[in-house]
This record gives sequence, C-alpha cells and structure tokens, in this order.
Amino acid sequence: MDRIRLRGGRPLKGVIPIGGAKNAALPLMAASLLTDGPLVLTNAPALDDTRTMAKLLEQHGLAVAHDQEARTMTLGGTATNLVAPYDLVRKMRASVLVLGPLLARYGEAKVSLPGGCAIGTRPVDLHLKGLEQMGAKIELDSGYMTARAPEGLRGAKVYFTQVSVGATENLLMAATLADGITELVNAAREPEIDDLAHCLIAMGAKIEGIGTDRLRIEGVKSLHGATHAIVPDRIEAGSFACAAGITGGEVLLQGARLEHLGTVARVLREAGVEVDEAPEGVLVKRLSGLRGVDVMTEPFPGFATDMQAQFMALMAVAEGASMITETIFENRFMHVPEMNRMGARINVHGSSAIVRGVSRLSGAPVMATDLRASVSLILAGLAAGGETIVNRVYHLDRGYERLEAKLAAVGADIERLPG
Ligand code: UD1
Repeated sequence: MDRIRLRGGRPLKGVIPIGGAKNAALPLMAASLLTDGPLVLTNAPALDDTRTMAKLLEQHGLAVAHDQEARTMTLGGTATNLVAPYDLVRKMRASVLVLGPLLARYGEAKVSLPGGCAIGTRPVDLHLKGLEQMGAKIELDSGYMTARAPEGLRGAKVYFTQVSVGATENLLMAATLADGITELVNAAREPEIDDLAHCLIAMGAKIEGIGTDRLRIEGVKSLHGATHAIVPDRIEAGSFACAAGITGGEVLLQGARLEHLGTVARVLREAGVEVDEAPEGVLVKRLSGLRGVDVMTEPFPGFATDMQAQFMALMAVAEGASMITETIFENRFMHVPEMNRMGARINVHGSSAIVRGVSRLSGAPVMATDLRASVSLILAGLAAGGETIVNRVYHLDRGYERLEAKLAAVGADIERLPG
C-alpha cells in the first residue's frame, strides 16, 4: 500500500492546476446511460472513483474510453445488463446514481444497497421515495433494490424532506425521460448539480430552475449524445487554498472559480487568508497570522462538509479557538484523533469539535479512513515540524489527481512511497 512522506514548514508558492470535479464527473458519467450517445466529457479527471464508475458502466454494457492526456472521456452504447453489483457499489456510493438513469431508460434496474460508510449511515430512502412517486415499484431483497417501471416513469412533484445531492441528481436524470413534468422541490443546489443539468440540456433535456432549490423538468422521448466540459473541482481548489493558508504561502489555483468557493472563501478570509479572483483562476495568500473562526457545514451555498476536515487542520494552528459543527454526516471527525497525535488540541462534543489553536504541530505517522480526512492530515503535515507519513493513500487517490506532484511543484517537501 502506498504511503506519502512529507516534511512541513515550507510556504507554498506557485501555480496549481485544478482538475475537473470528481463530484460532477461521477453523475455525468452515469448520465451517459440515458442515451446511446456518445457523451463526450472534457476536463475529465483521472481518479480511482472515475475508474470505478467506468468499470460499473462497462459491466452494464457501455463503452468507456478515457484519453488521459487529452483529459477527455467518451461514453456510449446500450446497456445489456441492468444490475449494479455489490462489489462495485460497496467501493463507491456514487454507484447508486445509475439507478435513476437505468430505470428511466430501460424500465428496470437492480442496484446493490450501498450500506453505511466510514462517515455515517448514509441512507438512500429519498432516492427511492422520489422514484416511487414517479411510478416505480421498488423491492428491497437480499441487499439489492430492484426498481421496475414497465410503462416508463411519469412526472411528479417531489418534495425532499432533506436536502440531498445524490437524490436530486438521481431524480433529475430520471425525470428527463419521464412522461410529463417533474418538479423537484427543496432540491440541492451544488454547482455539480448545475453542471449535470447543463449537460442534460445539451443532450436534449428540458430543465428550468437551474441554480435554485426548485427544478422543473419536462420529460422528453429520448436524449442524444453531446460534448460537455466538466466544472472545475471546488473541493480540490478549497483543499489547496487551505494548503496555501496553513503554510503562509501564495498560490494561484488555476482554473478554479471563486463563485463556487462561496462560503469557503468567506470563512478563509475571516481566518486571515486572502482569497481573490485572478485572471486565470483564484489567488490565495496569507500574509498575517491565522485566526480561529466558527463554521457549520451546510448544503450549498453553505460551508461544504467536504471542506470540514481541511479547514480543521487550518484551525488547529490558528490563534484562538474555533467551533466546527458537522450537520451533514454523523461520523465525520475521524481525523481528530490523528490530528491530536500531531499535537493539535481538539475536543469533540457530539456534532461539534472545539479546536484550540496551537503554535506548532509535530509530524507523526498517521492514517485516515476517508478521502477528505486523508487530505486534512497532509495539510496538518505541511504545517508540522518534522516528518509525517500518511498511510492508506488509496483514500486520497479516489478523489485527488497527483496530489503529491501538485504540492511538490509549488515547493512542498513531499513524496509518494510505493508500498
Ligand atoms: C454529500 C454532501 C456532498 C458531498 C458528498 C460526499 C451535502 C448536502 N451533501 O452528498 O456535498 O460532496 O456527501 O462527501 O452536503 N440522506 C437521507 N436519505 C437519502 C439521502 C440522503 O437521509 O436518501 C441524508 C444523508 O444521510 C445526509 C444528508 O441527507 O445526512 C445529505 O446527503 P446527500 O447529499 O444525499 O449525500 P451525498 O449525495 O453523498
């Protein structure tokens, strides 16, 4: 198993190119099931999660080609197998995003229940309730959800009792081929959902209300192929913004969009990190000390749960205290004991963590159990004295492309130790 070794204390300086968003790429790839295509996705990131999604689509019968140099992925074909097996769904929860498209296009789908994961229980009841409202008959048996709509799905007014990114995406895709009008109320508004909606429109879908919490979709008979550029990854950008902030550096996040950083940018500024729009992206620098700021994770446009662990690393070395409250997932503080082993002073009380800033962290061997927790430990290591070894790097590879190479290129002392 690969590990990452780093030595902290160097301010980062230079340009970091930001790739296409993982959380946009996965639903966009699933959307290719809605047509024979081809769907051509440009700015496609090469990540373990996109490779897993490609495998899943291939076993459904699609052809997926990823030209990594051109960063272009081409997907097309007809599904010949409507089952998403446990082995792939278990690896990556986003696999449940094939449910809506398969059901809408082929009238049937059998998808393994994803179950819990390291950060919480993560149910799919909202996905299922919405599809049932659209006329699907769903049975749960032997760990699988079998959904049928032999006459096709029909439009419905679906009110989400909780904001869910995944359920919004699944129903948005399903509704494009349903008979009549679907309204998704209290829909998630993440930029990745806007991106999916724009791609679906390019494929022939009729969608209104993009960017709001109320999406209106008029079903069409069929969709066609299209070419779509995947939106830049705001979480990758935010993670590197924290890297610049924690090391007191100055980094241009090339291709990043300030409007997608939203609350994260505002909170970083409050903490003493400058975040400004630049001609080629977003410029992040820190000239003064870091200050403790309280944050609470919320659906977009609030502070992203996917940035919580990284921001905590920053707060670990800020002056004063910070209260970080996680409202999306019940078990997303696994990085805390590891950061404390590096000298941080963090106490968890229920869904809040109290972070008392310390002047210095010290390097240590650490490991994490999920993607964003892993990157938060890299950030802590960049600020720490001495050597940090991050184990279980496969978590990082799920969602960051060449993370260590991008950090080394702006001056970090970091390398991958193949294992
Ligand atoms: C969530 C995050 C997303 C992040 C991703 C990976 C939000 C709103 N969503 O998306 O930003 O990129 O994790 O870390 O911040 N829920 C149900 N029933 C369902 C679906 C969800 O109760 O059927 C609950 C979840 O348990 C959770 C909340 O709704 O508490 C939001 O979940 P959801 O947005 O669906 O999760 P993801 O799509 O994985």
